Amino acid sequence: TPDAHVPRDSRLIRLTGVHPFNCEGPLSELYNEGFLTSPDLFYVRNHGAVPEVQDSECLDWEFSVEGLVQNPLKITLRDLLQEYENVTYPITLVCAGNRRKEQNQVRKSKGFSWGAAGVSTALFTGVVMKDIIERAKPLRKAKYVCMEGADKLPNGYYGTSVKLNWVMDPNRAIMLAHKMNGEPLTPDHGKPLRAVIPGQIGGRSVKWIKRLIVTAEPSDNWYHIYDNRVLPTMVDPDESAKNPKWWMDERYAIYDLSPNAATAFPAHEEKLDIASASETYNVRGYAYSGGGRRVTRCELSLDKGKTWRLANIDYAEDRYRAYEDKTLFGGRLDMDWRETSFCWCFWNLDIATSELADASDILVRAMDEAMCIMPRDMYWSVLGMMNNPWYRIAIHNSH
Ligand code: MTE
Repeated sequence: TPDAHVPRDSRLIRLTGVHPFNCEGPLSELYNEGFLTSPDLFYVRNHGAVPEVQDSECLDWEFSVEGLVQNPLKITLRDLLQEYENVTYPITLVCAGNRRKEQNQVRKSKGFSWGAAGVSTALFTGVVMKDIIERAKPLRKAKYVCMEGADKLPNGYYGTSVKLNWVMDPNRAIMLAHKMNGEPLTPDHGKPLRAVIPGQIGGRSVKWIKRLIVTAEPSDNWYHIYDNRVLPTMVDPDESAKNPKWWMDERYAIYDLSPNAATAFPAHEEKLDIASASETYNVRGYAYSGGGRRVTRCELSLDKGKTWRLANIDYAEDRYRAYEDKTLFGGRLDMDWRETSFCWCFWNLDIATSELADASDILVRAMDEAMCIMPRDMYWSVLGMMNNPWYRIAIHNSH
């Protein structure tokens, strides 16, 4: 395959055929790794072949800043390291298709079946995009920053856009990153340079970045228009193919993540040894939300949503916030954004095994600081994205 040069961990579960490479780790192993995901188990979403970049070529990797700017630039990774301040942030990336499998079970969407492990977290080191765009001096009518990668696909290079005023807001921490967890990016994750757009769907974080184009309109890239959207639920695959107007409507483009949660333990199909087990089982999993909004509660139900109990939450990122004024992995850890959260958190609750024995399933839902809560019902849409109804694990009793 075209990706013969790319090293990959054998634990990754392929979600599509041989090529391109799309995979997630086993949820239980992802959870057990804890707050930071190693590149080995970090989910991968590639639309095509991974660009081959030798180690010796990385510092010379060049991207342009062009479009509605007074001062177009060509910048290398070497320039970013030598002339710009480098910072490190803990950031969770999530594919908009995370949990799509459940949508496909209800009605086939136009996307492949992610389980609940299309989410991962790393310390990203790089340069805040604001510092780069400022040097290029955007013109008054500039409103968007379009990004384009080096991967040539059937419909052109992968690209998308975000609003310029988001990029210019330092609290949003939009960056170009060259390291994950202190190591240079691996090929699947954008070696040597990628965008990272915290709090938004992974699809906006363009890998192998080659161009930043400042514009007055959102990106007209094929992948910006025909991917990463939640179309109205009545638009089925036929209708969406017949009628391009559905795709052209920027209101349906996804940016911020919404609250979501999943249970890692017990796993689907896990047999609980309820009769002989210790008196409680620690039910546990992850949760996240978008736009820098923190998850403020996670709730479990054993009676199909009639009553709920509050789970404990561990905000592991706060242990990194405690490193204020220190440098991490060659980048200053900038905590101006301490009031925001761009990371997943972990919830858990001890439940008496006798109660589990009587229940048929465990439901979990999360709420964020805007009081946005995971819905009871699924919102099916043609791309099967942003699936976040209450997460359900059926209880299997081994007795
Ligand atoms: N960037 C390029 N150049 N090509 C791609 O195929 N996929 C996007 C985004 N950036 C993609 C890309 C999507 S849909 C996601 S979810 C994230 O990258 C996945 O990032 P990861 O593979 O590092 O987890």
